[in-house]
Amino acid sequence: MGKALEGVRILDFTHVQSGPTCTQLLAWFGADVIKVERAGAGDITRGQLRDIPNVDSLYFTMLNHNKRSITLDTKHPEGKKVLETLVRHCDVLVENFAPGALDRMGFTWERIQELNPKMIVASIKGFGPGPYEDCKVYENVAQCAGGAASTTGFDDGPPLVTGAQIGDSGTGLHLALGIVTALYQRNRTGRGQKVDAAMQDGVLNLCRVKLRDQQRLARNHVMEEYPQFPNGKFGDAVPRAGNASGGGQPGWILKCKGWETDPNAYIYFITQAPVWEDICKVIGREEWLTDPRYASPKARLPHLKEIFDEIEKWTMTKTKFEAMDILNKHDIPCGPILSMKELAEEPSLRKTGTIVEVDHPERGKYLSVGNPIKLSDSPTEVVRSPLLGEHTDEVMAEIGISKDQVAALRAANVI
Ligand code: COA
Repeated sequence: MGKALEGVRILDFTHVQSGPTCTQLLAWFGADVIKVERAGAGDITRGQLRDIPNVDSLYFTMLNHNKRSITLDTKHPEGKKVLETLVRHCDVLVENFAPGALDRMGFTWERIQELNPKMIVASIKGFGPGPYEDCKVYENVAQCAGGAASTTGFDDGPPLVTGAQIGDSGTGLHLALGIVTALYQRNRTGRGQKVDAAMQDGVLNLCRVKLRDQQRLARNHVMEEYPQFPNGKFGDAVPRAGNASGGGQPGWILKCKGWETDPNAYIYFITQAPVWEDICKVIGREEWLTDPRYASPKARLPHLKEIFDEIEKWTMTKTKFEAMDILNKHDIPCGPILSMKELAEEPSLRKTGTIVEVDHPERGKYLSVGNPIKLSDSPTEVVRSPLLGEHTDEVMAEIGISKDQVAALRAANVI
């Protein structure tokens, strides 16, 4: 069976996490992703956080599956000529260099259009046009500048970054959508276009509900589902909401049996209005059903802390999995706090290919996260990441560079 993006050639100038996330997705959907790296060095993550000496790190291998790797010095005059051929050969150029690096290399948008008017040029930068447009940016900078950190954590603590890589991987996802959309439009227009995704914008997009709350706060000066209500104080900016639910149904993280020794013996519990009666019955507080203080979702809002404290007395008598079993029978929305160890060992995730075991010639077997997006006509097979320059000769032959020329380029350290 063919793959969704079969025939699409991606010139992959990405490095670290944000860009590689994007091109890995495109590769999983069947695009031919040619990753361009510097000879002798490669993507800096090959050598970062290594768990085995002299072997490509998990950081690199887990973000570069299903790609081919070529080495090329794109600042060398001969390397630039090869790059021009590659620009003509490919459909999409993806890059997440520091601002201006592609231009400094001599490959401005205008020059690329001259070489290949159909080419789509997709870029990730930390910031869009504005005061910080020239800044280099990593994950946590984007989380801080995009509104995630100021709204994460507890009221009495500092801003907090989250473990989910919403700045890097989140922006990679945004860029991938921009690329396939531009490819779709190219089918009609025959023209390429620029696709830009700034990490600050991507994080802010994921924090959309917090901008919603900013405007609610400005209008009403209070948000009744936040833990600051009714006894705490609200300022003029959205405060950190602890583990409060971001939606209209109040929720909180509650201790479960074993919490004293297991840092993940917790459950997320949502007091969804339609199942309020079941919640009261399950935790043995039937008297709440006739208590006017709990009669409606609105009436319950000032009492959320005491409600969750009472529910927690019940969850502490069950393991998180026992609580899940009981609560799900009543359609009470809840979720166990799962550790990475538990996720890595979860059989259902292995079965769907969301967690995959991959074999690598130098490191042996390792676990990775497979494609979380499942297409029924374009299933993903996860292929190990390439070694540095593994496909240089193969790709050079495909773009018409003779073996003698390849030898000369290699002798001159261009490839
Ligand atoms: N041949 C020759 N030169 C190459 C090359 C190649 N194959 N590949 C890269 N280079 C050069 C670049 O042209 C650049 O040169 P220049 O500074 O002289 O113009 C240089 O290598 C370094 O690139 P840069 O992107 O500045 O790397 P860095 O390690 O200093 O910065 C980031 C890393 C991530 C901070 C930066 O790339 C960035 O801000 N990217 C955009 C935001 C982003 O994606 N951040 C998240 C990363 S997960």
